[in-house]
Order: sequence, then structure tokens, then C-alpha cells
Amino acid sequence: MIGRLNHVALVVPDLEQAAQSYRQSLGATISPVQELPDHGVKVVFVELPNTKIELLEVLGEASPIKAFLDKNPSGGMHHLCYEVDDILAARDQLKAAGARVLGDGAPKTGAHGKPVLFLHPKDFFGTLIELEQA
Ligand code: CO
Repeated sequence: MIGRLNHVALVVPDLEQAAQSYRQSLGATISPVQELPDHGVKVVFVELPNTKIELLEVLGEASPIKAFLDKNPSGGMHHLCYEVDDILAARDQLKAAGARVLGDGAPKTGAHGKPVLFLHPKDFFGTLIELEQA
């Protein structure tokens, strides 16, 4: 069902500083900053030849990554995003297999303008999984 690794997401305490570090120390190409108030995050993408790294900063008090940053004040790996061809078919197949889809189960629009869903980390070995319809 899953296809390419779309991105690995890191929560960082300071997006500008993290982007600068990836740009200057690692020589990476960084996308412009996007604010996604529906997701409670500010995001940039580090463009790599074979995938992307999503750097996330808390946006607003209700941000879903706030608790993660409180537990990991210097930042850390937050989720993996796999591509799927059909997100509703993938969701139904996963639910039938007993996996928990976070939220109300309806896909939201992600940072690439495409539908995304998140799967409970306890169902996948302690790692939060995002599915994005490619
Ligand atoms: Co993501």
C-alpha cells in the first residue's frame, strides 16, 4: 500500500535557526516558510535528492506539537510521511486491520496541498505515521 517516503519531520524550537543550520552547515536547499494555522505549525522543507525533511515549529497555543516540544525541548524526530495512491482506500484498509486513525478520520489538507491522515504511534512501533495522497 505505502509508496515513497515523502518526508521525515523534525520538531524544532526555532524554525529560522534550524533552517539556517541546514542551509549553512549542511548546505541544503530550504523552501520558503509556510504557516499552517489549521495544523498549528510553521514549516519549511529541506529539499534532498531522494526525499524531504520537514522542519516544524509550534504555531499557536493549541498546536498539536506543543506537548512534543515540551517533552523534547531541543527538538526531535516527530513523524514519517509515506505516500499512498488513494488515501480513503488506505484509511479503510488500515481501520479494518485495527489501526487507529487520529482525529475524526477525515483527511486534512497537508503542507503540499494534498490530503493527509495520521496513524496512532502505538500501532506502529512508537512512530507517528502520516499518509499523504501522492
Ligand atoms: Co509531515
